[in-house]
Amino acid sequence: MNRTVQTTADGSSTVVVPALKATYHSMYGALQESRHIFVQSGLEYYLHRYPLARELSVFEMGFGTGLNALLTCLTSVGGKVPVFYEAIERFPLSQGEIAQLNYADHIAGSSAFFTAIHSAAWGARATLHDSFVLQKVSADIIEYTPTEKYHIIYFDAFAPNVQPELWTVQMFARLADILLHPGILVTYCSKGDVQRAMKAAGFHLEKLPGPKGKREIIRASMI
Ligand SMILES: C[S@@+](CC[C@H](N)C(=O)[O-])C[C@H]1O[C@@H](n2cnc3c(N)ncnc32)[C@H](O)[C@@H]1O
Repeated sequence: MNRTVQTTADGSSTVVVPALKATYHSMYGALQESRHIFVQSGLEYYLHRYPLARELSVFEMGFGTGLNALLTCLTSVGGKVPVFYEAIERFPLSQGEIAQLNYADHIAGSSAFFTAIHSAAWGARATLHDSFVLQKVSADIIEYTPTEKYHIIYFDAFAPNVQPELWTVQMFARLADILLHPGILVTYCSKGDVQRAMKAAGFHLEKLPGPKGKREIIRASMI
């Protein structure tokens, strides 16, 4: 797949797939988008809403640049709640592409974790620090069934017009099956068809204000 690394409006990198007219993040800012949707509306919300949680497991659909993993890892540093983070990726970036990503320049103290995240072997658990264990899986979500259950799912597939097969009732029903209760799924896409598919799979939906350039995002819960 032909891909290029480009710079978004907040100065942070993203990856673009010209043939699909798809970007890995919003061109308004990769970093501001990841922080807003996945860290603030997902991870930090969950920790605030369920303060008695003793540990957290997170499943990411679409590891890509590893930006969501990096921000989650940094959030867990010094935190009271250890995080197990599993991320699936069908088309891992090459070392050359990873070398062009500039997140370490934009996120204080992230350089060593960025390297550790991308050096971690696929298919094995890697302890990045006392409170963060990462498992990257190189597989197609259509065929992969995670063995764990998760408190939080970051659903970060390409948009429904690019990957309609990943935004179906069947997919959300499978994701509902791997969620713990209470559990949440956060995603950037708030299209009507997607909301209907999530509801049909049994999720309770909240529409939240989106990051810059996006009116709404979705947090879907299983209580
Ligand atoms: C919108 S990008 C996600 C970006 C990523 N979360 C990040 O922060 O860089 C979608 C990602 O899903 C991956 N992907 C696409 N189809 C997939 C599939 N069927 N199974 C697993 N990963 C897939 C793509 O290769 C891409 O990395």
